[in-house]
Amino acid sequence: MSIKSYISGLGHYVPKKIMKNNDLSDFMETSDEWIYERSGIKERRVVEHHEKDGDGPSDLAIPAVKDALSMAKLDLQDIDLIIFSTAMPDYFLPGSGCLLQEKMGFPPIGALDIRNQCAGFIYGLSTADMYIRGGMYKNILVVCSEVQSSTIDYSNRGRDVAVLFGDGCGAVILSATSDDRGVLSSHLHSQGKYAKELWIEAPSAKMYPRLTNEMIKQGKHHLKMNGREVFKQAVRRFPEVIKECLEFNNLKVSDISLFLPHQANIRINNIVKEKLDFKDKQIFNNIHKYGNTTSATIPILLSEAYQLGKIRKDDLILVAAFGSGFAWGASIIKW
Ligand SMILES: CC(C)(COP(=O)(O)OP(=O)(O)OC[C@H]1O[C@@H](n2cnc3c(N)ncnc32)[C@H](O)[C@@H]1OP(=O)(O)O)[C@@H](O)C(=O)NCCC(=O)NCCS
Repeated sequence: MSIKSYISGLGHYVPKKIMKNNDLSDFMETSDEWIYERSGIKERRVVEHHEKDGDGPSDLAIPAVKDALSMAKLDLQDIDLIIFSTAMPDYFLPGSGCLLQEKMGFPPIGALDIRNQCAGFIYGLSTADMYIRGGMYKNILVVCSEVQSSTIDYSNRGRDVAVLFGDGCGAVILSATSDDRGVLSSHLHSQGKYAKELWIEAPSAKMYPRLTNEMIKQGKHHLKMNGREVFKQAVRRFPEVIKECLEFNNLKVSDISLFLPHQANIRINNIVKEKLDFKDKQIFNNIHKYGNTTSATIPILLSEAYQLGKIRKDDLILVAAFGSGFAWGASIIKW
């Protein structure tokens, strides 16, 4: 019997501080109606901001990872590898995975950082799945954690981006099994010609010094987005990669028990739903509560869906994400 990887543990954590749409109107010209109509977002979570030593992604990860370990009934010593996905690392270097290893007291196991932005969970899941299928490791932590609020331009200049993103963390543990369940396949894509449509330009290794007062004045350290181009590509790439994943596994849309799409904009998800003919009961969204939490989105969604009893044994779960890079992908997991 071949080895597969299944999800043995799930956990998520979002900061306590809630920023409602109306709170954003204090800093910029926007409104609850504009944000909700265009994106489906009502509120998002943000860390408390401090000039020094606030919470980074490795800090948000701790409670999420504790919950995932407890669900999997595993100890720190049982984990063979940390895969840490973040678009917003604590530092330029070292990676946030190494910081988490120390903060939680893991043995000196490998810690691999993944930088695939909104598609980071799919890339991390696929990497962990391959290590387990190959027989190298038995239990791998895939943790996706994002502190994006500290890169946001909370002014009129940044209002198109500011209203969409939030902070949060989701964690899964993948474990080896010889049962007929687990990750069926993952399909990954990228297209760097769109790199500058959703990016943070500075600090950059291409510039000396990497960050100047001038760059800060120009807002080059803020997340920038060409929303229309992202939207256009997302509604094309989601259906494409989902069909690829279904066909690879000889499955149809109607075979999917639960589709957990990336949460960037409810309108994107509704278009994908209509294009592929998913039924309402097959899809779970939570964008109204958290906005777009980049790579943390899908593991948060998975963890909430599980807590709400939406996932049962033998269910086929489809996950798909698209984001900066552009990078995108999809996986199907048999529960
Ligand atoms: C960002 C997004 C919500 C904007 O919606 P849109 O319908 O394309 O809106 P537009 O860009 O056409 O902007 C419409 C107007 O609203 C204004 N606007 C932008 N942000 C605003 C805000 N927060 N509040 C009020 N008005 C705003 C624009 O300046 C523009 O004004 P103008 O017509 O006078 O120039 C949408 O493009 C989107 O969701 N894109 C994909 C984003 C995404 O998925 N990102 C992450 C991928 S991982």
